[in-house]
Amino acid sequence: MKLSVIGCGYLGAVHAAAMAELGHEVVGIDVDPNKVATLAAGEAPFFEPGLPEILASGIASGRLSFSTDMADVVGAKVHFVAVGTPQRKGENAADLTYVDAAIDSLIPYLSDGDLVAGKSTVPVGTAARLAEKVAAGSGAHLAWNPEFLREGFAVEDTISPDRLVYGLPGGDAFEVAKSALDEVYEVALSRDTPLVVTDYATAELVKVSANAFLATKISFINAMAEIAETTGADVTQLADAIGFDARIGRRFLNAGVGFGGGCLPKDIRAFTARAEELGRGESVAFLKEVDSINLRRRQKVVDLVVESFDGQIFGKKVAVLGLAFKPDSDDIRDSPALDVAARLKGLGAEVIATDPEAIANAKRTHPQLDFTTDIDEALTGADAVVVVTEWKVFRELDPARVAGLVARPYVIDGRNCLVPSDWRDAGWTYQGLGRP
Ligand code: UDX
Repeated sequence: MKLSVIGCGYLGAVHAAAMAELGHEVVGIDVDPNKVATLAAGEAPFFEPGLPEILASGIASGRLSFSTDMADVVGAKVHFVAVGTPQRKGENAADLTYVDAAIDSLIPYLSDGDLVAGKSTVPVGTAARLAEKVAAGSGAHLAWNPEFLREGFAVEDTISPDRLVYGLPGGDAFEVAKSALDEVYEVALSRDTPLVVTDYATAELVKVSANAFLATKISFINAMAEIAETTGADVTQLADAIGFDARIGRRFLNAGVGFGGGCLPKDIRAFTARAEELGRGESVAFLKEVDSINLRRRQKVVDLVVESFDGQIFGKKVAVLGLAFKPDSDDIRDSPALDVAARLKGLGAEVIATDPEAIANAKRTHPQLDFTTDIDEALTGADAVVVVTEWKVFRELDPARVAGLVARPYVIDGRNCLVPSDWRDAGWTYQGLGRP
């Protein structure tokens, strides 16, 4: 099938390459000529396991191309809109500028019977508004087809999704839209991937409520970490114990420095803003608490470092292990790790940060920090070590060996990802979050 993907950021680049991998003929469109040139050369503009391989094979097969020219979408039957919906500056609401611009510039190139399939995460009500725009300017239809990919697993999640959601128009357009999406997702559907066929509003809400639920789950366990901290309990054992209840489940119950990234933080804020617009602010008022709990955990890590120096942090060398918002990613958007590094620096600590993939991005936004790609160099002479992204290379550090590098063996495990007894046995003072 011939497809176009408008917007080649995280979501769009992966979607375009994955669709080509599945046998479709795909053109990816982006306004950024540098990004298009990188992708067209078969290179990933960001770190994502498996993406370089499918980009290269897609381009080599001739099924995958990239362009800055919207006219190149002509001939495609389904046009995915995968542009960003960032948080508006100084507000909680989502900025829909890119979505509207993408639809406006796409409309002149649509043919009768084409399908525009929205993938971007949008406030509920957006699809209905855009459907009117598409209908007024063309003979095409609109569907909303949210995406649930996780960074680090984006290729796998796109090729083998755990569910598909179609938000479809009513009337005659329903069948046209459904059969087009069924053809796109033929491989996943043949493997019995669950499919929910619904209306626009439900499809839009599925995405934001899924992210709101995940964020709430993380903040719930981080709230328990706060209680554990004042009672001497151990939040990791608590998570294990409640996680055995199949109704609760252990996943997304890892207490630590909290959630970040390009989705969870901005999506809960945009959801709150949209609910308020709809006169339903109280229904999701708890999401403000979810956000506050989350942000408090960053300060908690900073407080632990400061306390470890009896308040005298100025000039102390602190090695910050981790900058990305989670491992296997170079994404620093709303990253708790980078925030902790910046706060420590702001207090006068001599911060030296390391991360396997995210240094280049962090350097651009936080030039005041010192970085090194060499973990041993970061640790050498450190008065405190703070682990804030649970990369495998940090989890696998040998505490006995690295104790010999630091000035003071004091580690704060902001992701509860180290084995406390191993570190204590090697002479370290170990401090986790929500753990005695
Ligand atoms: C998320 C959703 O999982 C995905 O379905 C959606 O499409 C986009 O948003 P992603 O942003 O890639 O994906 O990250 P995710 O794996 O959900 O992690 C988000 C944050 O929560 C990370 O900072 C992670 O470190 C943190 N986290 C996750 C915890 O602090 N504890 C946990 O138990 C799990």
